Amino acid sequence: MEIAGDLMKIVVTIGGSILVQNNNSKNFKEYSEIISQLNTEHKLYVVVGGGKPAREYISMARDLGASEALCDDMGIDVTRLNARLLIMALGDLAFPEVPHNFREAMEYSEAGKLIVMGGTEPAHSTDAVGSILAEFVGADLLINATSVDGLYDKDPHKYEDAVMIKEITASNMMDMLSNKDTKAGTYEFFDRTAIGIIKRSNIKTRIVNGKEPENILKAVFENIGTTIIPG
Ligand code: UTP
Repeated sequence: MEIAGDLMKIVVTIGGSILVQNNNSKNFKEYSEIISQLNTEHKLYVVVGGGKPAREYISMARDLGASEALCDDMGIDVTRLNARLLIMALGDLAFPEVPHNFREAMEYSEAGKLIVMGGTEPAHSTDAVGSILAEFVGADLLINATSVDGLYDKDPHKYEDAVMIKEITASNMMDMLSNKDTKAGTYEFFDRTAIGIIKRSNIKTRIVNGKEPENILKAVFENIGTTIIPG
C-alpha cells in the first residue's frame, strides 16, 4: 500500500477496546507491524487506551469506594500496561519506557525511537492524550483508531438509520458531544477535552475503524472514516 510522500509527523491513538481482546496478543502484533511500516516513511507517536481491563479495574475500585479521580488513575495504570505490551511487540524500534507525561515524551523522543504512551492524568481519556501530544509535537495528522467506522449523527447501536458523518468541523463536533458522560471508564466515543484541543490548534484528525489495522495506513492519504476539519 502507498504510504510514501513528504515526511509527516503523525500521532496515532489506538483504543484499548480494539487492542485488547480476549487476553490475546494478536492485535498488538498486527498493530506493531502496521506501525513499523508507517514509521519507515513518517515520524510516528502512538497512544494506546485501556479497553475492557481498564473498565474492570475501575469498576472494582469504584465498588471499593475510590473517588472518580482515583478510578481514573487506575485506568491510567492499565493504559500504561497496554503501552508496554505494544513496546514489546515493536522491539528495538520503540523507546523502552512509557512516558508518564508530555515532557517525558519529548525527552524520550530525543533518542530517535518511537514513543508509545498511555494516559497522563485523571479527567480525560487517551483521545485527549493523543490530541495534546499532537500539539506538543506539531503533528500534521492525528489518527484515532476506534471500534466504529466514524462519527454518526446518532447512536448506530440504537438507530438503524444512523448516518456516518464524513467531515465535520471541530466546533460542530463539540456541540454534538456536549451532553456525554464524563465518569471514569466512560468517556464516550470521543472526549470533549480532545475535541477542544483539536479545535484550538486546528489539528487535522481522522477517526477510523481500528478493527482493521490497515485503516491506519489508509487514513494517511484516503478520506476514510470521519475527518475533523478546522472551524
Ligand atoms: P481510555 O482512554 O482507554 O478510555 O482509558 P476508554 O473510554 O476505556 O477507551 P477505550 O476502551 O480504550 O477505547 C481508560 C480509562 O483510564 C482513565 C479514564 O478513566 C479512562 O476511561 N484515563 C485514561 C484517565 O483518567 N486519563 C488519561 O489520560 C487516560
